[in-house]
Amino acid sequence: MRALSIKFEVTVLYVLILGVILVGYRFFTHRDLSNRLYHSIDRRMRLTGDELGRRIGALVNTEGGRHNTALDLPDEYLLGPDCYRLFNAKGELIEQSKFCKYNFPPLLKKELKKLQNSKYFFHNVVVSGHHFRLGSILFSSLGAQGYILQICRQIDDVVALLHRRIYVSAGSILLILLVVHLLGRLLVRRILGPVLNVARVAKTISAKDMSARVSVLNLEAEMMYLANSFNQMLASIEKSFEYVKEFSSSIGHELKTPLAIIKGETEVVLRKKRRVEEYRRVLRVNLEETNRMIHIVEDLILLTKLDYRPSTIYKEPFDFIKFFTEIWQRAQMLASHKKISLSATIPRTPITIQGNKLHLNRLFMNIIQNAVKFTPSGGSITLAVHPEGQTVKISISDTGPGISADDLPRIFQRFFQKDKFKSRSGQGIGLGLSIAKSIAQFHKGQIEVKSKLGEGSTFTVLLPTAHS
Ligand SMILES: Nc1ncnc2c1ncn2[C@@H]1O[C@H](COP(=O)(O)OP(=O)(O)O)[C@@H](O)[C@H]1O
Ligand SMILES: [Mg+2]
Repeated sequence: MRALSIKFEVTVLYVLILGVILVGYRFFTHRDLSNRLYHSIDRRMRLTGDELGRRIGALVNTEGGRHNTALDLPDEYLLGPDCYRLFNAKGELIEQSKFCKYNFPPLLKKELKKLQNSKYFFHNVVVSGHHFRLGSILFSSLGAQGYILQICRQIDDVVALLHRRIYVSAGSILLILLVVHLLGRLLVRRILGPVLNVARVAKTISAKDMSARVSVLNLEAEMMYLANSFNQMLASIEKSFEYVKEFSSSIGHELKTPLAIIKGETEVVLRKKRRVEEYRRVLRVNLEETNRMIHIVEDLILLTKLDYRPSTIYKEPFDFIKFFTEIWQRAQMLASHKKISLSATIPRTPITIQGNKLHLNRLFMNIIQNAVKFTPSGGSITLAVHPEGQTVKISISDTGPGISADDLPRIFQRFFQKDKFKSRSGQGIGLGLSIAKSIAQFHKGQIEVKSKLGEGSTFTVLLPTAHS
């Protein structure tokens, strides 16, 4: 089944609600008007009826209690437009005024009953195509017997007026609804236009071209918000796509180099018969390059896990002081190999941390290895641990070459290396700091770096301590 469009639903709903309100309103005003008109007619009939009834009563009395009294009315009544009918207490017609040319219906039992209850009874009838209001009045001046006077007044003009009002009302309601329907459609089209525009732009987006954006010119506030949000979403998707493209091309590049070395070395050594040492050398190179590739792949797997499946990483509470003391010992070994002096300030009081020891070890060793790698022999590295409220602050400073202000924001990017060719001799492919940053974020911590070219660098790691 095809879904109804919002445009259709909104306008139909709008028109329906307005229609119900207008019809209801017209119904009540119509009823009010007709009540008021009939009330005034009835009031006048009652006045006339009461007056006439008294005259007839007097006549009846003077003629010795005769019930079948003649309807002896003055000419002003007889020549007027109304008809008068006289019934006895049983509801039988006794007589009616002269010149009355219509055949009015007899008095019904239920009408008689109502009269006995309330003296007056008014209702409408149609006779020979004309509308009449019949007003009956019960006079019981003669004890239980009594008589009924009925005035039949033609009300064609009143009925016509009321009917005309109904037609005019119905017509005006239809007209209003039609106009509202058309205006509603225009309004909805105006409101939904930008949404359709967003959809149109969305259709033109593909992985190859993500440059399209929704125009935000002349949009209402809410639509501008929608369009801006959509554009922002596109921008971040585009950025992610760029990132993924760059990332895969970097991975390809990093894996291609060791593979090319393995292939080249193997081809050359197989060209002719060689000495055993030659084969050994090539196998050593191949092993080194294979280890390098395994390292890269492991790093990538770790990054993916930290980014997309952090819930699978195990965490436990442990004493950070004991943990960092072991790191310091390993750092000492690395530094002493390169004749770099290393000092450390580590407090004795235990600090509990909730985290993954293996990954935190990786975080600190990545920073320390960088410090050792970039600091020349004779330089120095300083480690310091400071508990600060709910966090523990660990700083690693070196007297290396420092990092330029331009490079500072980029060193945590994946595959960023200041000098790719030089660094091939050492370890790392520019993933070390980005892994360190992801590990810090996984532990709800952060890494800051302060550095000046020629003055060394200080990396500071902030980690939240476990609440006891
Ligand atoms: N202590 C440091 N002193 C100077 N430069 C550094 C230091 N640590 C990191 N860098 C710069 O940041 C870059 C990225 O570091 P990293 O992500 O560990 O990659 P890698 O060690 O593989 O080069 C390094 O190539 C280097 O240019
Ligand atoms: Mg590194």
